[in-house]
Amino acid sequence: MTDRYAVIGNPIGFSKSPLIHGMFAQANGQDIEYTAIEGPLGGFAGAVDAFRTAGGLGLNITAPFKLDAFAYATERSGAQLLAGAANAMKFEGDRVLAENFDGVGLVRDVTHNLGCPLKGKRVLLLGAGGAARGALLPFLEQEPAELVIANRSVDKAHELAAIGARQGRVRGCGYAELEGQTFDVVFNATSASLRAELPPVPATVFANCGLAYELAYAKGLTPFLRLAHNAGVKRLADGVGMLAEQAAEAFAWWRGVRPDTRAVIDKLTVPLV
Ligand code: ATR
Repeated sequence: MTDRYAVIGNPIGFSKSPLIHGMFAQANGQDIEYTAIEGPLGGFAGAVDAFRTAGGLGLNITAPFKLDAFAYATERSGAQLLAGAANAMKFEGDRVLAENFDGVGLVRDVTHNLGCPLKGKRVLLLGAGGAARGALLPFLEQEPAELVIANRSVDKAHELAAIGARQGRVRGCGYAELEGQTFDVVFNATSASLRAELPPVPATVFANCGLAYELAYAKGLTPFLRLAHNAGVKRLADGVGMLAEQAAEAFAWWRGVRPDTRAVIDKLTVPLV
């Protein structure tokens, strides 16, 4: 029997996950069906129950259900405990295992696909919401010289930095405090780009920067990337590689085979300019 997987979100029409997992399955000879489910707002648990009853083995979870998925799980991993959110689930009888692969997918894209190790680097992370939380531990595992988290609501940046303090050198601050500081790599994990807004980051942070990375996918040259580009940053990236890598992590977790992501990244890459 064909094994069933799906992505659940609302809205879900724009999800690339069915395409990605379809390509992975074909390239690796895996007999799976992967569909998209539009979960009713406020009705996440019922929709997942129905999927499991119908024999579903695993789900990817996207907005706005990542916190619901965390709550639904019976077993949680370290990475998503910290993020407080899950982006993948696996069903084994009554057991519901949950993971959050966004952060490891991002790190894999940066270090492996883009060839930019974070070890010993000064890393700036803009934002302290769900996306930033997911990246915190995977970033610190890379042992950067320092990780600075900047956020509009400074309390949230301090809170997140405190969570990571035992794992490495990390500090929270407001945007104004970035004036005069430089970083090797800058990540935009705010949701500002979704509304074509610019986080109030001073352009001077890019003075020695080798890579500016926009976690949002397919938004073109966002105000953040444009600022970095105008400040002379040679390497710009958006979240297409992160999207492919987190999917590959989930696929490997479910199927025991880690797919190569190159073909997916090539297919989904939307030029930045
Ligand atoms: P996500 O899951 O995408 O991270 P979120 O948890 O709602 O979404 O967090 C959104 C993040 O983007 C927050 O860090 C938010 O900053 P505040 O905590 O200060 O609100 C940040 N953000 C959103 N719009 C922004 C903007 N125009 N400028 C700067 N930061 C912005």
